Amino acid sequence: MGNNSRTQFAIITGGTSGIGYATARHFLENGYGVIIMFGNDTGRAESKRVELISLGYSEGDDFLFVHADVSLEDSVERGLVIPNIVRGKITVLVNNAGVLKRGSFQELCTSDWEYVFGVNVFGIVNMTKWFSKNCPSARAVINIGSIRGFTHVSRLNNMIYSVSKACVPTLTAVLAKQLGPHIRVIAILPGTIDTPQRQGITEEEFKLYGEDNTILKRIGRPEEIAEMCLFLASEKVGYITGTSITVDGGYSVNYIQ
Ligand SMILES: NC(=O)c1ccc[n+]([C@@H]2O[C@H](COP(=O)([O-])OP(=O)(O)OC[C@H]3O[C@@H](n4cnc5c(N)ncnc54)[C@H](OP(=O)(O)O)[C@@H]3O)[C@@H](O)[C@H]2O)c1
Repeated sequence: MGNNSRTQFAIITGGTSGIGYATARHFLENGYGVIIMFGNDTGRAESKRVELISLGYSEGDDFLFVHADVSLEDSVERGLVIPNIVRGKITVLVNNAGVLKRGSFQELCTSDWEYVFGVNVFGIVNMTKWFSKNCPSARAVINIGSIRGFTHVSRLNNMIYSVSKACVPTLTAVLAKQLGPHIRVIAILPGTIDTPQRQGITEEEFKLYGEDNTILKRIGRPEEIAEMCLFLASEKVGYITGTSITVDGGYSVNYIQ
């Protein structure tokens, strides 16, 4: 460790890709140190590590990379070995890691449900438990859900994802009640955002989710979710807890006639 100039740190799960990486960059640009967590893709983590160094950030002082499978409590406990000096400065957790598995109800098996629920639901549970137990300065948890958790915009070909994301608002509310008043817990429910996760969708679907069916006539940018994370982490909005906020260009209310 060097001069430890950062006074606050944020942990961002799934911080090597899409929304998570944009959030890590945005927190770094706004004074936070970041602990960037990733799952399986060590190659991508390494390329982001090199990129941050090339941007002038220092490993140890400004950022740390941590590998853990958020779906497994043991892996979180073993992976999150963080120097005490940094751990004491962690104030924010962004539960962003998320996965999906497409297919019809008949095609999908129990292990598919376990895989998606493992990351999208138990990931939040495991990380929030670790954070609230191990970080004495903890003050905000931000969970990334999805508008697909709303019944009226859930998708049959992505049903496990939709059902797992439906858990996020209630989980957010109960964790807020459980961890308050010291730790606020809030969820962001994005619409379609331009990230590697959209690689699974066709150009037709992409147009449908953006231009055709949003009020704002476009899909979202990862930086727009990153900005919302930074905003909600701030004590300036310290009266917000237990709620979920949609950031979807109006997709989920576009049915209004
Ligand atoms: N993109 C969208 O349109 C959209 C819309 C609504 C909500 N969201 C939600 O926003 C979040 C981020 O989405 P994104 O599109 O930015 O995703 P992404 O680009 O696919 O990145 C997912 C991240 O999650 C990590 N991850 C996956 N499984 C993990 C595990 N078991 N343990 C730890 N980390 C794991 C991945 O790391 P490895 O690759 O190293 O495993 C990766 O860094 C997700 O929760 C997603 O459901 C996205």
